[in-house]
Amino acid sequence: MKVKSKIVWECIECGHEQQKWAGSCPSCSQWNTFVEKNKFEEQKRYGSAIKKQKKPLPLSQIQLKDNFKQKTGFVEVDRLLGGGVVEGSFLLLGGSPGIGKSTLSLQLAKGFAENGKKVLYICGEESEEQTMLRAKRLGIETDHIFLLHETNLEAIKNQLVELNPEALIVDSVQILYKEQIGAAPGSIVQVREIASECMHLSKEMNMTTILIGHVTKSGDIAGPRVLEHLVDVVLEFEGERSCGYRMLRCRKNRFGSTDNIALFQMQKEGLQEVLNPSKAFLEERTHKGSGSAIVSALEGGRSLLLEVQALVTPTAFPTPSRKATGIDSSRLALLLAVLEKKMGFALHSCDVFASLAGGMRIKEPAIDLGILLAIASSFSNRVIPHDTIIMGEVGLSGEIRSIKKVQSRLQEAMQLGFEHCILPLSNMKELPDHLKESISLHPVQSVEEAIGLLV
Ligand code: TYD
Ligand code: MG
Repeated sequence: MKVKSKIVWECIECGHEQQKWAGSCPSCSQWNTFVEKNKFEEQKRYGSAIKKQKKPLPLSQIQLKDNFKQKTGFVEVDRLLGGGVVEGSFLLLGGSPGIGKSTLSLQLAKGFAENGKKVLYICGEESEEQTMLRAKRLGIETDHIFLLHETNLEAIKNQLVELNPEALIVDSVQILYKEQIGAAPGSIVQVREIASECMHLSKEMNMTTILIGHVTKSGDIAGPRVLEHLVDVVLEFEGERSCGYRMLRCRKNRFGSTDNIALFQMQKEGLQEVLNPSKAFLEERTHKGSGSAIVSALEGGRSLLLEVQALVTPTAFPTPSRKATGIDSSRLALLLAVLEKKMGFALHSCDVFASLAGGMRIKEPAIDLGILLAIASSFSNRVIPHDTIIMGEVGLSGEIRSIKKVQSRLQEAMQLGFEHCILPLSNMKELPDHLKESISLHPVQSVEEAIGLLV
């Protein structure tokens, strides 16, 4: 039977489809973006798999493929991915511009090359010379890594067939384009097409593929969440550009758990892993005066000890200023309100600055009490003892609420030599006796009690 072709109109910016042409897209409000699209043609392009007529198999007869995990050369990345990169898998590495995605992927390429794998690095954003200079700086000298400055997907495909590499790095998905699509590189339609072609190539050629994608201000990988369902692993690189620490977070992993992070430091000779993050964060702590508190935050199942710093000064202006770095500013406002109401601190006539050291951003409520005590400490010029760790969520009526995973937080604190811990009273019953003997615990129920512990 002859299948009738069906014309629809598709917006080349956002991918919105409709039956009629329109001057402006109702979805993204861009002008002159509708192009004709033949639905039948598209089915023909993607529908080849249907012809193969694979038969369904009972569960017991399905052969397990040996998912061989390739070491990356980074202990932390291997741990993050549950033992290494699965051969032939498709990874998406997202992050804002300048965060270090190209550096990380070049260093991963080095790891692959050291294992004897042939790697093709598509440096679409930089010339081969620039990438070569960067590789030199990173101490990479190998003939297993091939560089190609090309942005046309067809040309890349030809080179892929010729070179037949075992790993492919695409830097970045937003710069590549497919000629047949009228849209500009980086538009959703192009990005979606490029990613899905790369995925097919990766699976057909059994080639480990890392696709680099810039994230937009709102945190999506350049608009399309559409990429995330295509790939096996989604890695996100985040951190303050001005600050040396970078955090690699695994948001999706078809071959392992996602509850993981790895920490790096950007240095002259590239990214270095931070094997003991809490220790690294606390090493920078030299100030022993008021306004400093150590809190415990859970990041991807791992307990991190961080320093909160607060500065409270009388303001010279009618409206006091409040600045939060690494901390949610609405949370800061709430804690200030609690302090004012419960303790009578005249914070309305003070400027308040609060920040998390190391450029980390934490939203977990378990750091509330630490922030509150750092502010109280700066306001009243009383010091929080240097060997004390603080954990607890602060409620609106000034009560201290219980938090998750106190044991693992305490263990991390003890390893780093902390001797005292201020924690919610309601968490005490879950703690085993041996823990209570190894660290001096100060359970508190309210903000007043906690502030009473300051010296
Ligand atoms: P880059 O990998 O180019 O970021 P992205 O690909 O995510 O846009 O690197 C960003 C920054 O890292 C750049 O500003 C310079 C810095 N950098 C170092 O500090 N040391 C190094 O060894 C390298 C290669 C880069
Ligand atoms: Mg780059």
